[in-house]
Amino acid sequence: MPDFDILLPSPLPAKVVQGLAHVCKVHPLWEAADPQALIGQIKDKVQGLATCYGKGKIDGDFMSQFPNLKIVSHYGVGYDIIDAAWAGAHHIVVTNTPDVLNDEVADLAIGLMLATIRQIPQADTFLRAGHWLKGSFPLTATLRERRLGIFGLGRIGKAIAKRAAAFDIEIAYCGRKKQDDVPYRFYPSLLELARESDILMVIAPATHETTNAVNAEVLSALGANGVLINVARGSLVDENALIEALKNKTILSAGLDVFAAEPQVPQALIDMEQVVLLPHVGSASHYTRDAMGQLVVDNLISFAEGRGPLTPVAE
Ligand code: DGY
Repeated sequence: MPDFDILLPSPLPAKVVQGLAHVCKVHPLWEAADPQALIGQIKDKVQGLATCYGKGKIDGDFMSQFPNLKIVSHYGVGYDIIDAAWAGAHHIVVTNTPDVLNDEVADLAIGLMLATIRQIPQADTFLRAGHWLKGSFPLTATLRERRLGIFGLGRIGKAIAKRAAAFDIEIAYCGRKKQDDVPYRFYPSLLELARESDILMVIAPATHETTNAVNAEVLSALGANGVLINVARGSLVDENALIEALKNKTILSAGLDVFAAEPQVPQALIDMEQVVLLPHVGSASHYTRDAMGQLVVDNLISFAEGRGPLTPVAE
């Protein structure tokens, strides 16, 4: 393994840091008393960054501090914090961690959908509070005869659809284009998909095109019995429009694993009883996080040893 210095701008799991430290020189920026001073000392040596989803932006200003930067190995499938176009234009490879988390996120998406529709956390709270002794938990909505619309039928979207098919519900999707190898109905626009769906599952990538794509109009099209599930990124949903729709009961409920300004969650959502809120845990099992971490390390090692990146993003 040639000399290869890697900067970690924000915390990564200990196993990733240890895995990298075996083969490279690792510089954890978040541990530095004076981060800017550390950057000044190592900027010419740094050839790689190991970055983490949901943390600070890795934009052109940040990357341009390192004249010999060649690769950004990202922990997460969604790499919206990285300006991958800038990196590409400057011959810097960006890798992410696709596939290894498909099943985990799909499991959570289905769990969140069921929890939201059948109000499972609320029923748990009801029992613990002793309310069962005074009466039954209110009846809930159902998955029976419902139509699921998936916004973004990529690898995770397909894993969700495969699981949802076991519930004998209708499945449709919208995305950049119709896919001929899937048995689900295609709608060219999100608005049409929402109109034809009872449950809208958001699992599209966060891009300029998808920012606030789930807006007031889409939510109104989903309708008063509609349920919104978001396991993608908070930026895809106009959170204020969602809060208004929930307050005015123009949709029924929402299950959210992601938020616009994580880890901040709008108090208005926290105060609502009909929503289920999770702290961005889609891929958060030991098994899957270990696999993601290993891929971050393997991408950097493979690149540093001249074998090329394993999972470069298409930019
Ligand atoms: C990702 O990989 O992008 C996820 O959001 C982390 O679970």
